[in-house]
Amino acid sequence: MSKKVFIRTFGCQMNLRDSEVVAGLLEKSGYNLTDNSEKAEIVIFNTCSVRQHAEDKVWSEIGRFAKAKSKPIIGLIGCMAQNYKAGVFSRAPAVDFAVGPADIDKIPAILKSLLAQKSALKVKKIWETEGSLRPEEIYHTGFHLDKSHAYVVISEGCVNFCSYCVVPYTRGPLRHRKPEDILREIKDGVKKGITKVTLLGQNVNAYDYEGFNFVSLLNLVNLVDGLKEFSFITSHPKDTTIELFQAMAGLDKLKKYLHLPVQSGSDRILKLMNRGYTAKYYLDLARNYRKIVKGGELTTDIIVGFPGETQKDFQDTYDLVKKVKFEFGFIFKYSPRPNTAALKYEDDVPRAEKERRHQLILDLQKKISKKYAKNKA
Ligand code: SAH
Ligand code: SF4
Ligand code: F3S
Repeated sequence: MSKKVFIRTFGCQMNLRDSEVVAGLLEKSGYNLTDNSEKAEIVIFNTCSVRQHAEDKVWSEIGRFAKAKSKPIIGLIGCMAQNYKAGVFSRAPAVDFAVGPADIDKIPAILKSLLAQKSALKVKKIWETEGSLRPEEIYHTGFHLDKSHAYVVISEGCVNFCSYCVVPYTRGPLRHRKPEDILREIKDGVKKGITKVTLLGQNVNAYDYEGFNFVSLLNLVNLVDGLKEFSFITSHPKDTTIELFQAMAGLDKLKKYLHLPVQSGSDRILKLMNRGYTAKYYLDLARNYRKIVKGGELTTDIIVGFPGETQKDFQDTYDLVKKVKFEFGFIFKYSPRPNTAALKYEDDVPRAEKERRHQLILDLQKKISKKYAKNKA
């Protein structure tokens, strides 16, 4: 009988898509996917390292499965696997295999080898974290959790090295998929009933395949017959252009929605974060967006309590949120991450103060979001 696999996903949309990719590959290899973790013989955690809290959740969940009467084969894949490498096994001895984001194509072969060993209690640990290129074909199994909406990866990795961020270390350098491969994946999806697509990348608007840029790609996607609507995440302010706004205003299928993380409203902190822009640059960008993309939504990410963030720095962020009036904002408390440049600064904003700043921006953003909801109703 074919083995049952349960996949639990943490983290960003990229991870959601990666879990679909793994599910598609495993289905093709004869495994059955299940939503019931209790009945699964294989449990895979697709993990996130972006903040400490994300990792803590995974360690504690693994602990729960480790204690189960008949322990499943446990795999830890994604960003934490890359972050800890073989260290995963000393931290969580119940884990049988660890696979980084660039090696997910190897999972069927790894499982085959683990299952060939007699008892799941005695399996030899396997880890793969050295890959750099994903084989193109893994994106074409046709597996989508949602029957009408598909996530489509356009670029992998990131080279921005924002000083707080672990992603360039877990996901590797920026790579761009070929436009024709992206188009083939979208068209195949549409043939199977997909009507909406979200283009994915850590920094989508840096897309550049041998001179073919992001706006050119948007133009091509807009032409796909049968596709009704598409959008993209995430954009970086430094790569966001007026041409992009014009495309958003002009392309009929492109959703008027821009997620543009600002992170901070203080020039001093933006510099320490290595973001490559000033608050004024961001405000001008937001103003142009509102002017050109009429009725477009604008959302953001903000980090409070970055090392050395003073009351004045925080006030600058607060004021920026007030000025831009985002439709929605994700507000995070700074969490020191391994390998990152910000580790050299002391995490000196006390926890209670981070909480306070977090709550203040949350409250402000809530008020702003409410106003939008009221105007819509
Ligand atoms: N590539 C995307 C997503 C990065 S992770 C981007 O550049 O926007 C999503 C969000 O998590 C980031 O925008 C940032 O606000 C937050 N984040 C990243 N590292 C963090 C850290 N060390 N502590 C707190 N928040 C963090
Ligand atoms: Fe991280 Fe910055 Fe890259 Fe986003 S752009 S993934 S925040 S390094
Ligand atoms: Fe998390 Fe990795 Fe995504 S660290 S946010 S799962 S790229």
